[in-house]
Amino acid sequence: MKVLVTGGAGFIGSHVVDRLIQENCQVVIIDNLSTGLLENINKAAQFVQMDIRSNQVLDLFVKEKFDYVIHLAAQTMVHKSLEMPDYDCDVNISGTVNLLEACRKTNVKRIVFSSTAAVYGNATNLPVKEATPKGPTSFYGLSKLTCENYLSLYNQVYGLEFMILRYANVYGERQGDGGEGGVISIFARKIHHHQPVTIFGDGSQTRDFIYVGDIANANYQSLLSSYSNKICNISTQTETSVNTLIEYMAKVAGKTVTRVYAEMREGDIYKSSLSNCAAQEYLNWNPAMPLIEGLSKTYNSLI
Ligand SMILES: NC(=O)c1ccc[n+]([C@@H]2O[C@H](COP(=O)([O-])OP(=O)(O)OC[C@H]3O[C@@H](n4cnc5c(N)ncnc54)[C@H](O)[C@@H]3O)[C@@H](O)[C@H]2O)c1
Repeated sequence: MKVLVTGGAGFIGSHVVDRLIQENCQVVIIDNLSTGLLENINKAAQFVQMDIRSNQVLDLFVKEKFDYVIHLAAQTMVHKSLEMPDYDCDVNISGTVNLLEACRKTNVKRIVFSSTAAVYGNATNLPVKEATPKGPTSFYGLSKLTCENYLSLYNQVYGLEFMILRYANVYGERQGDGGEGGVISIFARKIHHHQPVTIFGDGSQTRDFIYVGDIANANYQSLLSSYSNKICNISTQTETSVNTLIEYMAKVAGKTVTRVYAEMREGDIYKSSLSNCAAQEYLNWNPAMPLIEGLSKTYNSLI
């Protein structure tokens, strides 16, 4: 099968590409390299440097006749969305609609969309289920939720199949410092250089940390699934506090860590853990990587 991966030069996208290549898929990547890196790109994939908002996107779809699209390219930073909501909207919403148009005009079988726990905002009933009322607290969360609604309406109006994956906080090899879940890569580099780590809040805030290889599997399973038009959280369904995370990382690194506490940032969620029952049912997917092992792999790859 022929698969387009948008954002395939990025952190998660490059792992998705590796997984697809492993399964002998024919993979084309589009990425504008705004945060992605050429060195992340699997040599067995075809790379096209292109913006998802470009009017050349349709020409590419017509030429390549993709079976599936896995859409990861995005403005991924919560704080940037609060500073530049117009830019976030342009990349995340207009870019996605441009792809959806190309999908429906060239009869793509299914689009898999990378969404986020940020669509839930400060949901208090943990682990958060997919049907929980949405309340994004950042424009990033809002733009992702809006894209989800576009996918749903494209399905109703044009019959384009979709699978929406709402990721918890993703970590792993090749993670940059900027994105949504970048806290682990930031801590790893600081710990390695014996620098203090800054914690926004008192460290009791929790996250659901999911390994990037598990995310890549969920994307691949989304292509195989006999279900369609489903929304699945991709998560471990486990809360880990930032303080616990630092303890684990200190253990993995074999170092003592100095902590500096700063004020919570605007738009940050306090507690987070997502139910993964829908992914088990619809994608036949379970998280496989234990946190401490994933942290060890990540630390050793980043230092
Ligand atoms: N990292 C996380 O914890 C996390 C959590 C939830 C959801 N997500 C989602 O997963 C996806 C991948 O995120 P990531 O962490 O790998 O981020 P990333 O920044 O590493 O990857 C995004 C990629 O998209 C590319 N890109 C950005 N704007 C583009 C544009 N206009 N045209 C073409 N390419 C463009 C970038 O160059 C980069 O390669 C995103 O959609 C993000 O919202 C990530």
